[in-house]
Amino acid sequence: MLTKLIEYLNENKIDGFFISRPQNVRYISNYTGDDSYLFITGKEKFFITDPRYTEQAGYECPEYTIVNWRGKASSVANAVKLIAEESGMKNFAFEGDFVNYNMYAELKQTNAEVIPVNGIIEKFRSVKSPGEIRNLRVACEIADRAFDRIIKDIRIGVTEKELASRLSHYMVMEGADTKPYGNILISGKRTSLLHGIPSNKTIEYGDFVLMDYGCGFNGYLSDMTRTVVVGKATEEQRKVYNLEKKMVEDATKTMLPGTPAIKVYEASIEAIKDTEYFQYHYSGIGHGIGLFVHEVPFMGPKSTEILQENNVITIEPGIYIPNWGGVRIEDQILITKDGNESLTSSCRDLIEL
Ligand code: GLY
Ligand code: MN
Ligand code: MN
Repeated sequence: MLTKLIEYLNENKIDGFFISRPQNVRYISNYTGDDSYLFITGKEKFFITDPRYTEQAGYECPEYTIVNWRGKASSVANAVKLIAEESGMKNFAFEGDFVNYNMYAELKQTNAEVIPVNGIIEKFRSVKSPGEIRNLRVACEIADRAFDRIIKDIRIGVTEKELASRLSHYMVMEGADTKPYGNILISGKRTSLLHGIPSNKTIEYGDFVLMDYGCGFNGYLSDMTRTVVVGKATEEQRKVYNLEKKMVEDATKTMLPGTPAIKVYEASIEAIKDTEYFQYHYSGIGHGIGLFVHEVPFMGPKSTEILQENNVITIEPGIYIPNWGGVRIEDQILITKDGNESLTSSCRDLIEL
């Protein structure tokens, strides 16, 4: 990972790279804690943090020079500035989308030219290594096992909040990281809320229950969705569910290396484009996933990216009918050399509890 970054710096004649996005810090250095930054120069690697994390950084990143910004520097940006000046840098890059205005104002007081760049490390991250795929696979297996457990708990009278917290608990008991993840578990008409927050609403007979959730394993995330019905599905619930299932299946079939992401979107709407349900679909039908939940490539009608071997991407078209309900099925797909493999494997058929 670091080799690619150094190559990028050399090719672009940049003397250093200040990394402030937490997932990029982890990706480049393997550090697992919080509130830390990297400053990579052609000659040396600096790990900038505060005394809460210096010991951990020393264990996890022995090849870095650990800088406590609360010492001489008094701010992270000032620590970067001192390093740049001491090593006589002509210029350095920073992540434009992960530096706030105050930090930028301080950084640009250096003698070196400061160059905003976006999405460089994110692009490296979109193609997963065998080790990253192993972690993602385990995160997905944990989410699948939690699904088997939570569907046994769904019954009339239990609140969405209680079920959502049990779902999170099951994943940790199954081996997930403990870092919180915004799990969605919503029911009834509330399932049309694309990112609804679990509430005190109780489960009722006939409700859809939509669970969109996942967990981390060694920092790598799973993200899956299943929608079930409590009791017997109505005719319309079954119709919408089956259309949704067809959308996911049609789209998944096109997820091969070399496929433009826009083609996956086009395949996803094939089943509904001439129906009254077209107006209720959402066009963001999937995203890369790894150390962060929403990564490149993003799949939708405006995508310009091409799927590549070892991308890991969710597929999650959905139909959301306001004041009626919604259905989403989401799986996490590994793009292989000549096809794809779903890392999540829970049943996609309609489950009536
Ligand atoms: N839970 C967020 C998503 O599915 O993208
Ligand atoms: Mn999701
Ligand atoms: Mn997702």
